[in-house]
Amino acid sequence: MPAVSFQNVSKTYDTPRGAFRALDGVSFDIERGEFFGLLGPNGAGKTTLISILAGLSRASGGQVTVLGHDVVGDYASARKQLGIVPQELVFDPFFSVRETLRIQSGYFGVKNNDDWIDELLTELGLADKAQSNMRQLSGGMKRRVLVAQALVHRPPVIVLDEPTAGVDVELRQTLWQFIAKLNRQGHTVLLTTHYLEEAEALCHRIAMLKRGRIVALDRTANLLAGTASTMLRFKTDDVLPAALAAHARVTGRIVQLKAHDAAEIETLLAALRQSGVRVEELEIGRADLEDVFIEIMQGAEFEAAAQGVAA
Ligand SMILES: Nc1ncnc2c1ncn2[C@@H]1O[C@H](COP(=O)(O)OP(=O)(O)O)[C@@H](O)[C@H]1O
Ligand SMILES: [Mg+2]
Repeated sequence: MPAVSFQNVSKTYDTPRGAFRALDGVSFDIERGEFFGLLGPNGAGKTTLISILAGLSRASGGQVTVLGHDVVGDYASARKQLGIVPQELVFDPFFSVRETLRIQSGYFGVKNNDDWIDELLTELGLADKAQSNMRQLSGGMKRRVLVAQALVHRPPVIVLDEPTAGVDVELRQTLWQFIAKLNRQGHTVLLTTHYLEEAEALCHRIAMLKRGRIVALDRTANLLAGTASTMLRFKTDDVLPAALAAHARVTGRIVQLKAHDAAEIETLLAALRQSGVRVEELEIGRADLEDVFIEIMQGAEFEAAAQGVAA
């Protein structure tokens, strides 16, 4: 039995401009013990999918189960298996950190939970904030409490929706060390992020979501291997000739060009030299997940165009 199973999940929102399909036939399973990444640009449907998993929103079609429990028909059992760290910071400002965690324990029917609450506070660097009121905490500290709150009932499946968006480096490290430890102890993790380097470092498998559809799903290593393996990177103030510009990814002064092998690199370098473009800080590197992501997202763009779907 998988930890989480999404079967043909769709979601349509009614908007003033008509029906909007945020999810369109999403199907995949997350195995028990997996560290699974769900990646996609803003608006892809990641939070919508997690809201359906959490039972906060109803799918328009399809089925979602958590360790065999249907999230609608068997809501209470499904919810108990899940620890969800939401994207938005929402709190009751009048309680202290410890009270917040005790109340959440009570909500899940967990009694005498102070030992585990103390461990969570320590692991997440919150020990000296236990008595502070929620409204006194900084955004980063509130985020830590959200993580602790999701874990009070020791859920087998941990879901993190963009947990590190706008979060400082220290918390990112603390958080990942702790979540990786829980994963080694057997907890399943579902992470959505747009920090691709995090997903590359942590996730066993990755699904890429675009406009409500899964456009790639594979082991992280296979996704990395399946793309152009080399990138030529440099900086320039000059305009690239059209033939090169067509294949380049340009971010400000930084230009990146894909190459599959050494011969292609030579061809690119020759073309650059001939064009007279002045190049600084030239380097040749391995493609990373960011490159794979862009390649796949562009591919999905072409497919959508070919099918006559409005971009
Ligand atoms: N309650 C809602 N009503 C209408 N549209 C919504 C609602 N929630 C989300 N959307 C739309 O659904 C799409 C997916 O949103 P979301 O799931 O938040 O994406 P992500 O988390 O990947 O950024 C977006 O286009 C968003 O504007
Ligand atoms: Mg989101």
